[in-house]
Amino acid sequence: MEKQIILTVQNIVKYYDNQKVLNAIDLEVRAGTVLALMGPNGSGKTTLIKILSSLEEADKGEVYYQGELINKENSLNFRRQIGFIWQKTLLYNASVYNNVALGLQFRNYSEDKIKDKVDSTLDRLGIVDLKERNAKSLSGGQQQKVSIARTLVTDPQIIFIDEPNTSLDLESIELVEKIIKEESQAGVPIVLITHNFYQAKNLGDEIIFMKEGEKVTHETPAEFFEQREELLRYV
Ligand SMILES: Nc1ncnc2c1ncn2[C@@H]1O[C@H](COP(=O)(O)OP(=O)(O)OP(=O)(O)O)[C@@H](O)[C@H]1O
Ligand SMILES: [Mg+2]
Repeated sequence: MEKQIILTVQNIVKYYDNQKVLNAIDLEVRAGTVLALMGPNGSGKTTLIKILSSLEEADKGEVYYQGELINKENSLNFRRQIGFIWQKTLLYNASVYNNVALGLQFRNYSEDKIKDKVDSTLDRLGIVDLKERNAKSLSGGQQQKVSIARTLVTDPQIIFIDEPNTSLDLESIELVEKIIKEESQAGVPIVLITHNFYQAKNLGDEIIFMKEGEKVTHETPAEFFEQREELLRYV
């Protein structure tokens, strides 16, 4: 059975300073599917997921969430359902606990519920011992995990991940990969930008390869790695 389409993207075009950085991108993101986005530096991957998540406006084209066109009126509501995990983490000058709790406080959860959810999420990422530390004082990899906890704690309906590996050690990368699998098996669609083709192969249900703002291929990892090996020298 075909998995339900959660996000539909049609004919996205984006310019920065008169330079076209995305050209006519179409794609669908399905429930319980990991869509791996690959491609060389500057090919438009980050720009694309910013547009998919309403952080940037496209110059042309549409994004539909569960069949509904995203526009200025509903984009804030849409953004609340999305989780982002970025290369650059943006943590507040406060304890790890408070950083992770913040998104739940905005959503008006009770203090007890917040405590339960924050504790179980910190446990999931193996960072319970960092709970009282100031998030700004942590190492890059620790901050990355706090940032992932902050995303997961809000139970996002779709998750965008921009190169999670940058500051993580091998064990932590494996942990993040396990979480990606768990979320995807629970039905959450995931768009994962990665330069690591083993990761794309292991985690991806579909692979999109981008080059100079264009979608070059969109296929399964098996098809991709059998037929497109020549593209891998670009990533
Ligand atoms: N805010 C911006 N202002 C102007 N140009 C930008 C901006 N953001 C991105 N660009 C340009 O858009 C193009 C695509 O950038 P983008 O960050 O989407 O690439 P990427 O595929 O994510 O690359 P990387 O693998 O290096 O992260 C690049 O040419 C980049 O210089
Ligand atoms: Mg990028």
